[in-house]
Amino acid sequence: MPNRIVVLTGAGLSAESGLGTFRDKNGIWTRHRIEDVATPEAFARDPDRVHAFYNERRAQAAGARPNPAHEALARLQERHPGAVTIVTQNVDALHERAGATALHMHGELARSTCAACGHRWTAPETMHPRDPCPACAAQATRPDVVWFGEMPHHMDEIERHLLSCDLFAAIGTSGNVYPAAGFVQEAARAGARTVEINLEPTDVSGLFDDHLAGPASKVVPEWVESVLDAG
Ligand code: OAD
Repeated sequence: MPNRIVVLTGAGLSAESGLGTFRDKNGIWTRHRIEDVATPEAFARDPDRVHAFYNERRAQAAGARPNPAHEALARLQERHPGAVTIVTQNVDALHERAGATALHMHGELARSTCAACGHRWTAPETMHPRDPCPACAAQATRPDVVWFGEMPHHMDEIERHLLSCDLFAAIGTSGNVYPAAGFVQEAARAGARTVEINLEPTDVSGLFDDHLAGPASKVVPEWVESVLDAG
């Protein structure tokens, strides 16, 4: 019976909640260039454009509801007798709306941060670069998301969980973005069994012991039941 479980989630988990993925056909990165909207350099060059991109994503995410895969992971966290750590690359709040807690390694759309002093607060629906920071009044407000070239959040805590897990699952992520794409190898080195749950094979499928193919809303609840039954 696995005791310590780490689940890594990606955009595919929220696809059936109506939120777009990044690299699929019609994905977000087919319509926007990363270097225009998701780097510190883009923000320095054209903060209004970057805010417009995240304001639109925040509005979409605000109307989205968790799907059966988010709900199943919340059930796993509640009912599994050992530790279940959910690490998400997603910036939506669907894990939390389903009743789970998750480490948001790429930040959260629902949070703002001040580029001058690092203060964090709940984001308004629409954010502007000239919004003053409530702590230091600098006009340096940015979404509290991680851009390419920046350090993901919670890395020390995530590494600790990976080093002691005995089951690692990656759900709905293409394995294109590091460090998340390398978590499977860290978990395997720590002795964990590893499973990839995805619509289709990915560039990193060869690194996993097991594969479950299909839409997350169907496959994740089945997988969660099997893990809970094994316990
Ligand atoms: P991607 O868009 O790269 O990958 C989504 C994965 O989900 C693909 O492998 C799809 O096959 C799979 N998928 C799609 N629909 C699915 C469904 N219904 N059920 C199961 N799987 C499904 O998204 P991520 O891997 O999450 O970072 O992307 C990682 C990071 O790249 C994001 O956090 C973001 C992006 O650039 C930043 O912006 C920093």
